[in-house]
Amino acid sequence: MTTARDPIRPYRPNDRAALYAVCLQTAATGGDATPLHRDHSLPGKVWVGPYVEFEPDLAFVLDDGAGAQGYVLGSLDTRAFEARLAAEWMPPLQRLHPADEFEPHTRDAALVRLIHQPMVAPEAVVNDYPSHLHIDLLPGWQGGGWGRRLIDTLLRRLAEQGSTGVFLGVNPENEHAVGFYRHLGFEPVSSDGGLWLARSLGT
Ligand SMILES: CC(C)(COP(=O)(O)OP(=O)(O)OC[C@H]1O[C@@H](n2cnc3c(N)ncnc32)[C@H](O)[C@@H]1OP(=O)(O)O)[C@@H](O)C(=O)NCCC(=O)NCCS
Repeated sequence: MTTARDPIRPYRPNDRAALYAVCLQTAATGGDATPLHRDHSLPGKVWVGPYVEFEPDLAFVLDDGAGAQGYVLGSLDTRAFEARLAAEWMPPLQRLHPADEFEPHTRDAALVRLIHQPMVAPEAVVNDYPSHLHIDLLPGWQGGGWGRRLIDTLLRRLAEQGSTGVFLGVNPENEHAVGFYRHLGFEPVSSDGGLWLARSLGT
């Protein structure tokens, strides 16, 4: 008898391109952003690359055997992550993507702005919830319990590493994701610059 292989596994360096593709296909408030970008690499460069580069042990992949279908990415210490983002990850991207590369008010321009002015999470959020996460699944894998399992996998690892709490930022228009997070026990902590949801870890 063969046992079914668990489709959730740790990140491997050769997953990066597939994770960038999942990011692009879920970046439009949970839907496919491919037609909305001229540069298809930008969502992955901003929302995936630094996580798998700096904290690969907190990256987990949903892989059906044919490659990545989804991921959860975490950062243990958000302030340390933001410092590395500004000092190490963004400078080469700033040279590659000048601030005026795209027409203003386009999605590409918004991501290039984040490359030049990286996001800093509000103090009120990070004080109580030092870690943060991102999760995205391709449509065929949504609604089957894999999101919950990916989050559980990451939260267990964060708790093992001593984290006391985790937050995430979400577009309030992404009602499906907001409902999912609330169902999993994440509570709104701030609406400064978007909606921030958080959950305590440990005791
Ligand atoms: C949001 C997302 C990660 C959720 O993952 P998922 O695999 O679809 O969700 P699951 O099937 O694991 O759902 C887990 C639980 O949440 C519940 N749930 C899911 N969506 C819900 C909603 N909108 N409202 C209330 N409960 C919800 C499910 O019923 C399930 O409940 P149960 O475990 O108690 O039976 C996934 O749909 C996704 O990647 N969407 C596109 C990208 C995206 O929006 N990412 C988030 C950006 S911030």
